[in-house]
Amino acid sequence: MAGHFRTLPPQKKSFPAQPQFSGFMRPCRYEGGIENLEIIGEIPHEIDGTFYRVMPDPHLPPMFEDDPWFNGDGTISAFRIKDGHVDFKQRYVRTEKFVREAEARRALLGRYRNRYTDAVEFQVRSTANTNIVYFQGKLLALKEDSPPYAMDPETLETIGLWDFDGQLPSVTFTAHPKFDPVTREMVCFGYEAKGDGTPDVCYWTVRPDGTFGETVWLVAPVVAMIHDFAVTENYVIFPIIPQTCDLERMKKGGEHWQWDPTIPMYLGVLPRYGAKGSDVKWFRAPHGFPGHVSNAYEDSSGQIIIDFPVSSQNVFFWWPDKDGHSPDPRTITNQLRRFIIDYKSETLDLPPGKILFDADVEFPRIDDRLAMHRYNIAFTCLMDHTLGTDWPYISQVMGGGFPPYNSLAKFNIEQGTQETWFPGPRHLVQECVFIPRKNNSTEEGDGYVMALVNNYHEMISELIVLDTKDFGNTLARIRLPLRLRAGFHGNWVDAEDVDGHPAPAAN
Ligand SMILES: [Fe+2]
Repeated sequence: MAGHFRTLPPQKKSFPAQPQFSGFMRPCRYEGGIENLEIIGEIPHEIDGTFYRVMPDPHLPPMFEDDPWFNGDGTISAFRIKDGHVDFKQRYVRTEKFVREAEARRALLGRYRNRYTDAVEFQVRSTANTNIVYFQGKLLALKEDSPPYAMDPETLETIGLWDFDGQLPSVTFTAHPKFDPVTREMVCFGYEAKGDGTPDVCYWTVRPDGTFGETVWLVAPVVAMIHDFAVTENYVIFPIIPQTCDLERMKKGGEHWQWDPTIPMYLGVLPRYGAKGSDVKWFRAPHGFPGHVSNAYEDSSGQIIIDFPVSSQNVFFWWPDKDGHSPDPRTITNQLRRFIIDYKSETLDLPPGKILFDADVEFPRIDDRLAMHRYNIAFTCLMDHTLGTDWPYISQVMGGGFPPYNSLAKFNIEQGTQETWFPGPRHLVQECVFIPRKNNSTEEGDGYVMALVNNYHEMISELIVLDTKDFGNTLARIRLPLRLRAGFHGNWVDAEDVDGHPAPAAN
């Protein structure tokens, strides 16, 4: 490792004049709390719990001018909701990166997932900026290149790097572990699991008591990004994003990722229990970018049904192909597709997947009581150009980042129906969460949807609450006196959930 560390570049004291640091995307850099947020409308009193979400938010100007939004420091926002009131709290995750840079008062970490560009040697490069999940009384702040950081759910203080009492087999940990509503397991994987550029994938399960169950090592056909995955009662599925890693490119100071338009979209399928690494089958769908998984389950004949948005384009446009080509982000769309896989099939080639809805969507969320089981309702971020968004205004102040979404949608897959919620012409939306209603209703999707929205007119953030039975209307709009940058993911932790996750649906 010695020898690759850079001479410290000049210290920067302001953020680069780049879209990802401008307008609504200017770093927020706020820690603290605000009690009794302003509420327009009424929050149903039965809503009792905390909405946690994480955003990348650089605490210091980055080492490189073109540093992507993905490289910002993880900041956890917590909205505690009880008796119709909301208290807000926000803290940075005290990662090794954050602490050492704060001491030095300057950026020390270099390019996204490229340790060869760092100014010092880090044990762990995590920014802890991608997801925040609840397990065994702790929050785990996740970034897929590292182990989790554990945090206190009440104070948001960082407890430290979390290796499950030494049980963690992989040097990486997915940002999208799945929670089985029946077995209460946390189902996990890591890719590049033996270090940068390795094709090794590790799959494991954590029992509700924190002990590890299955641990299986397998090898991917390409060294490429595996961001989200899917779990059914009897299988785990690994969709590979065609962004590939080349260690030699990294050693020369280049990017970790490069778009490869020549490879198929691999879907690795492994039996969930009792498998060996050689039991994995890498199915091949036509080239495409697999987005976040909506849900997966097995039908009555044992076939695997898996739904996720797919784009024909490079959604991570800031990491172009080998010739430097990437799409105009305004042209990138994703459609929710359904793939059906027979693990026992002789052929590994899959059709492109059936388009479930002719709509541009991402960040699907479901009624988590039906995770890994047959389901019918998905809530997503939606981009609908017919809704009247004031693009001339928003485009001047929104800054850069991910392709934007201007509304939320509720899809009924069997009925083929869609309902839409539109926040207004000068708003865009972030990922939503679903909260079950508390009248002993086990009806799928009966409850509330909560999401953070960006109010570009006032340059503030708002938390909105919708009733899923009246999806088009806003129940409550909770106004922050602050602007929070675009985040990645969040989760609802209900006060009634013994272990932070909902009980399975009765059926
Ligand atoms: Fe994600």
